[in-house]
Amino acid sequence: MLDPEFSHRLVVAFLYYLYKIPGIHLLARLLYTRLTPPLPVTVMGLEFPNPIGLAAGLDKHAKCAKGLADMGFGWVELGTVTPQKQAGNPGKRMFRLTDNKAIINRMGFNSVGIDRFLRNLRRNGKAGIIGINIGKNRSTPMDQAVDDYLMAMQAVYPYADYIAINISSPNTSHLRDLQKEPNLETLLATLKNEQIMLGKTRRHYVPLAIKISPDLTDEEIAVIAKLVIKHKIDAVIATNTTVSRPGLEDNLEASEGGGLSGQPLKTVSTDIIRKLYNHLKGKVPIIGVGGVENASDAWDKMVAGADLVQLYTGFIYEGPAIVRRTVRGLRRRMQSSGDSSISETITKARSGIHLMR
Ligand SMILES: Cc1cc2nc3c(=O)[nH]c(=O)nc-3n(C[C@H](O)[C@H](O)[C@H](O)COP(=O)(O)O)c2cc1C
Repeated sequence: MLDPEFSHRLVVAFLYYLYKIPGIHLLARLLYTRLTPPLPVTVMGLEFPNPIGLAAGLDKHAKCAKGLADMGFGWVELGTVTPQKQAGNPGKRMFRLTDNKAIINRMGFNSVGIDRFLRNLRRNGKAGIIGINIGKNRSTPMDQAVDDYLMAMQAVYPYADYIAINISSPNTSHLRDLQKEPNLETLLATLKNEQIMLGKTRRHYVPLAIKISPDLTDEEIAVIAKLVIKHKIDAVIATNTTVSRPGLEDNLEASEGGGLSGQPLKTVSTDIIRKLYNHLKGKVPIIGVGGVENASDAWDKMVAGADLVQLYTGFIYEGPAIVRRTVRGLRRRMQSSGDSSISETITKARSGIHLMR
C-alpha cells in the first residue's frame, strides 16, 4: 500500500537498526536462517550454502547485508555502487505492476559512492558470501567508463567474494554500449589484467562476473560469450531488467520508462541463459536472474544453463519465505533423483533434454 521506494527504504532502515541490537544476528541464525535447508554448490571457486541469491539493487549502499543473508539467501549481491556519490534520477522512479508481479524502475544508480559504501560495509558487517556490483558515474564520459570500473574494482577488491561488472542497467545513458565488441574487449582486457595484478599483490583471487541485458540480439550474445571465454571472466549474470514490455504492450502502467523486472521478464531472461549456455557450454558459469518466484522457475533457469540463481522482484511480492520455499523445492528434486548434489541433478536434467533433442 505504500509508495514502492518509500517501503524499500523502510525495510532497509528497519534491518539496519534491528542489527544494531547486540545478539540479533545470532538469534536470527538460531531461529530463522536454519529454516532454509543446506543445498551447497561450488561456483567460481566459492562454496555457496544454497544456489539462491539476492540480486543487486536492494542493498545498494551496504546497509543491511547481514540481515538479508540471515533470511536464508545463499549469498547477497550489494550495489550497484559508483565511484562517486550521485543522486540517481529525480522524481518517482519505482513503480509496482501488482497484477503482473512486476516492477519498473529507473533509479539511475543512486549511490553513496564507493568510500561511504565501504565504510557502511565495514561498520555493518556481512555474513556469508557477498558480491559487490559496480557501475560508472553518470557524469563520466563513455570514453572514460573503463577508468570508473577500474577505480571501483580496486576499491572493493579486498571486501568482495566476487565483483559484478554492471554494463546492463538501462537507466544510465549508453551504459549498454559497453556490451558491444570493441568496448567490451577493452573493458574485459583491462579488468582481467587488473584482477591478475591484484590477485598477486593481495595473494587472493576475487572472481569477476559481468552482468548482461535481456535485450541482446543473438549476434550480441555470441560476441559476449566469445569475449568472456577469451578473457577468462569467471561468470556471467543474466539478466538485468528489460526495456521491452513483454505481454504488457496494452498495459498503461507499463508505459513508465525504465527497466522491467519480475514475472514478465521470466521467459525472456531464461531464453538468454539458454542461448548463452549454448555458446559457453559450461566453460564459464552463469548466474540466472529474472522473474524467479519459486523452485520451478529456479529449476527452469538452471536447466537452461544457470549454475546459480538470483531474485529480487519475487522477494518484494512474496517476502522472505520465498528463499526457503525455493531452496526446499530444489532440494526435493535432488532427493527424488537420489543425487548427492543439486549440480548433479541439474547436469542430468540438462543432458536428458539434449538427448531428447
Ligand atoms: C528497484 C530495482 C533496482 C535495481 N537496481 C539494480 C542495480 O543497482 N544493479 C543491478 O545490477 N541490477 C539492479 N536491478 C536488477 C536486478 O538485480 C535483477 O537483475 C532484475 O530485477 C531481474 O530480476 P527479478 O525479476 O528477480 O527482479 C534492480 C532491480 C530493481 C527492481
